[in-house]
Amino acid sequence: MRTVARMVDAYFWTYDAQALVELSHLTYFVAMQRRRYITKGRESIPGWFERGDAELFSAIDVAQRSAGIVGDILEIGCFQGSSAILLGYLRRANERLVVCDLFQDVTPSLDEFHLRQNSYAGLSRESFEANYLKFHEKLPEIFAQPSTTLSGEDLARTFRIIHVDGSHDYEIVRSDLLLAKSLLVPGGFVIFDDIITLHAPGVTAAVWEGVIHDELLPVYQTQKLYGTWCDPLEVKIPKEFTQFTHDVCGHTMAHLEYPAARRSLLTEVLHRVRSSRR
Ligand SMILES: C[S@@+](CC[C@H](N)C(=O)[O-])C[C@H]1O[C@@H](n2cnc3c(N)ncnc32)[C@H](O)[C@@H]1O
Repeated sequence: MRTVARMVDAYFWTYDAQALVELSHLTYFVAMQRRRYITKGRESIPGWFERGDAELFSAIDVAQRSAGIVGDILEIGCFQGSSAILLGYLRRANERLVVCDLFQDVTPSLDEFHLRQNSYAGLSRESFEANYLKFHEKLPEIFAQPSTTLSGEDLARTFRIIHVDGSHDYEIVRSDLLLAKSLLVPGGFVIFDDIITLHAPGVTAAVWEGVIHDELLPVYQTQKLYGTWCDPLEVKIPKEFTQFTHDVCGHTMAHLEYPAARRSLLTEVLHRVRSSRR
């Protein structure tokens, strides 16, 4: 009993208001594991998955759970697992997590920027699997192939979250977008990485083309664009974000900024108390 009380206490006091929102929708252990990964575990995995986006992924999942939306999760481009591991925590027992990556064969698909940066050094299917298994007992379904060879008919329209974070090549992102359009269920979100990144103009072009010609509704923007093809589900955005509204191509969307280093007031007070005792 004392152990459980200590764990509950640790959950409430170590984390923040978002932890309470999650706790009201998830079982205690699921909420705790997820929060631990967002706040700490994520930093141990190589990749580019920022805290703010991890918080938004979780907030979308909470909104989908409370709206009763059930569906699978797809990630195109998993690299060493930073975002896929969180998606593994969003997946429920009756849902699939599917990931697609080229793994070793990535070089031919790289643009000049990524070749010169050697961005994907250390990438292999083995490194992805080893990282994933540090946090989960079972691997997701893995498609080690170009995303352009995935078939909408094989995967079927069963997906509630699709994270597109693979190639930055315009033609490939366009193909990924059209695939996502054929897979997303009502209430689902598609999320495109690198929407406003200097080295990824092909992503920007393909995604905004999707807005203008393929009915994609832009909803939120960070470094990623969060969109949908149906009425956007209402998501409770964590209070740490600052929101700015924009009217773009006939759509109202928000860009969301997450403070680089933020602590809730409570966490800040506790941190100072603990530091003063050291
Ligand atoms: C930016 S990384 C993904 C980062 C990862 N989601 C994270 O949060 O750390 C891009 C990944 O896409 C993969 N990739 C590149 N082109 C691809 C393609 N045509 N099909 C599938 N995967 C691809 C690369 O191998 C790489 O692992």
